[in-house]
Amino acid sequence: MNVLLLGSGGREHALAWKLVQSRGLDTLYAAPGNPGIARLATLVPLDATDHAAVVAFVREHGVGLVVIGPEAPLVDGLADTLRAADIPAFGPSKAAAQLEGSKGFTKDLCLRAGIPTAGYVRVRSRAEAEAAIATTFSLPVVIKADGLAAGKGVVIAFSAGEVTGALDALYADDANAEAVIEEFLEGEEASLFVLTDGVSLMPFGSAQDHKRVGEGDTGPNTGGMGAYSPALVLTPALEKRAIDEIVAPTVAAMAAEGMPFSGVLYAGLMLTPQGPKLIEYNARFGDPETQVLMMRFQGDLLATMLATAEGRLSEMPAAKFSDETALTVVMAADGYPGTPKAGGAIVGLDSARAAGGIVFHAGTRIEDGGLVASGGRVLAVTAVGDDVAAAQANAYRAVEAIDFAEGFYRRDIGWREIARGA
Ligand code: AMP
Ligand code: GLY
Repeated sequence: MNVLLLGSGGREHALAWKLVQSRGLDTLYAAPGNPGIARLATLVPLDATDHAAVVAFVREHGVGLVVIGPEAPLVDGLADTLRAADIPAFGPSKAAAQLEGSKGFTKDLCLRAGIPTAGYVRVRSRAEAEAAIATTFSLPVVIKADGLAAGKGVVIAFSAGEVTGALDALYADDANAEAVIEEFLEGEEASLFVLTDGVSLMPFGSAQDHKRVGEGDTGPNTGGMGAYSPALVLTPALEKRAIDEIVAPTVAAMAAEGMPFSGVLYAGLMLTPQGPKLIEYNARFGDPETQVLMMRFQGDLLATMLATAEGRLSEMPAAKFSDETALTVVMAADGYPGTPKAGGAIVGLDSARAAGGIVFHAGTRIEDGGLVASGGRVLAVTAVGDDVAAAQANAYRAVEAIDFAEGFYRRDIGWREIARGA
């Protein structure tokens, strides 16, 4: 079967890396892809916002499955267009992608379905936000813009001044901006991935990421500076609770309300003293969590994704993951998460591979025959080991073989587990 993979980041490179290991794959096409994906797939200059062009490409090239990597084309309804044209797509409909696209939608669904999550109030003006904060919440309070915000748009305000600053930013351009005011949850975060075809569920591994740019988890939020899998804090018992109390009721409620969710549900969980609570859903795989999940997934990714897309997930065996730990270190361009410096030269990827790493490209391009940075997060250097400490040592050995003078990386990915002795 021919497959079309949409996206250009480290997540898509990791998906491509696993898809080409599938027995059923003929040609993998990727749009727009990146120089790392180009080693595995035929890159095509397709614009995912041009739905008619995607459908025409699929028909012309006999593509049997479209894998939609990022959230924007999902929220834009590309999966609906493909399904209406009888083309199997891995990724939810526009209505189901509201689980990521609208925080207010998800909070209301949790309320209707009795799913544990932070207490909240939806607001549509500064006055409503101020009233909610004054009457319903104590500090710290969490203030979230409603729509897609690429890891930004969430402020945890610890003081009245921070509340004012967050509301100034939120209402700067739009006096009626939708937002959610939320209770602050305490605990450790973990990510749980579950495939679903709208009815059946297939647990698909766990991970923890490091969202802050600085060592010790300090500084501004990023898309993720590194990750490891599995998340040991999400014990089998807690994972079962998260599935029974959070994911399964979500899938059932979405189906009952006429918006069945098909694809991967990525649940961001807070492990509180009262049990797992939902922080947020994403309607796609995580980046860089996919890089570590794919290193451990032992099944056939194409067959699994196709079964998800075609509503046959119950026919598939449970997903199997190796017992090893996988850990990925993101190398970012100087300036990230502000304005990243473009064009910095990158050399030494062969040495990193020789050192045992798998180098996923996240934001690179070829310039005058050499590899250069073209994004904020540039590479995700990934390795496995018998435990977190071993995976971490292997990943950093590969990182150190790479020469990227105008980039940086955190030196402490996995520190929580190392501190716990993992
Ligand atoms: P989100 O975009 O909803 O994932 O929020 C980004 C980050 O903000 C999360 O990964 C958490 O670290 C933090 N966060 C969001 N909501 C809460 C909450 N209710 N309590 C504590 N931390 C939160
Ligand atoms: N690493 C966070 C995300 O993919 O949303």
